[in-house]
Amino acid sequence: MTEAPPHAETDASPRLFDSPDWLYLLREFFALYRNGSAGGSRLIRSHRKRVREALSHVIEANPVILARPQEAKPVTAHLSRALDLGERGAVSGMARALSRVTQGLTWEYGYEKVPKALARKYAYCEVLGPRGPVQADRLILGFVLFAPKTTYPQHSHSEIEESYISVAGAWSENDAAVHAPGSLILNRPGEEHRITTADLDPCLLAYAWVGPGDRLSAPGMKLTSTRKARMLQGI
Ligand SMILES: [Fe+2]
Repeated sequence: MTEAPPHAETDASPRLFDSPDWLYLLREFFALYRNGSAGGSRLIRSHRKRVREALSHVIEANPVILARPQEAKPVTAHLSRALDLGERGAVSGMARALSRVTQGLTWEYGYEKVPKALARKYAYCEVLGPRGPVQADRLILGFVLFAPKTTYPQHSHSEIEESYISVAGAWSENDAAVHAPGSLILNRPGEEHRITTADLDPCLLAYAWVGPGDRLSAPGMKLTSTRKARMLQGI
């Protein structure tokens, strides 16, 4: 008999409703995408709705929880501080719910080649998606964590619509504005974006990706080359 790989579904895999910490975390996501304002933007309103609909389908299906190996990265040394800040801010319920599942998080880079400076200051973890831990095909939910004073280089996501909601820390995208906890930013498929974070505190963002199932299971993330990024920015 061959043994199943560690994160494959088995009859003994727990389901979402047997795992209240994961369920409450997903409900926090649902509440964020339901209760926040779209700021009058039709595109943001429809994105929020798409995330809610995909998420409520997942919750209703009571999917299995695929345990993935816990993995840390250098930046996860800043997670406790980010959660402390988050618990004092506008998205405190999410920060608290995330703090209950930190033992089950797989922090990763998502790029084959990660610039050295970025490898010390950035990582993300998925909480729902094709690779689990909560299994879903059409939606990925997760968190991205940045150390203070980080630049996350320019990149885009083909066919994937992405939103970030700030949980802790101040940050800026494409030098356009400073976003505080509770703010939502929408990046449409293919839109180039670059993130910078504040000098003293880490920054924790919740994110959602909506897109075709095959793209979500193999997003092929690539940083835009510095030369191309400068051209796109007109410098
Ligand atoms: Fe992005």
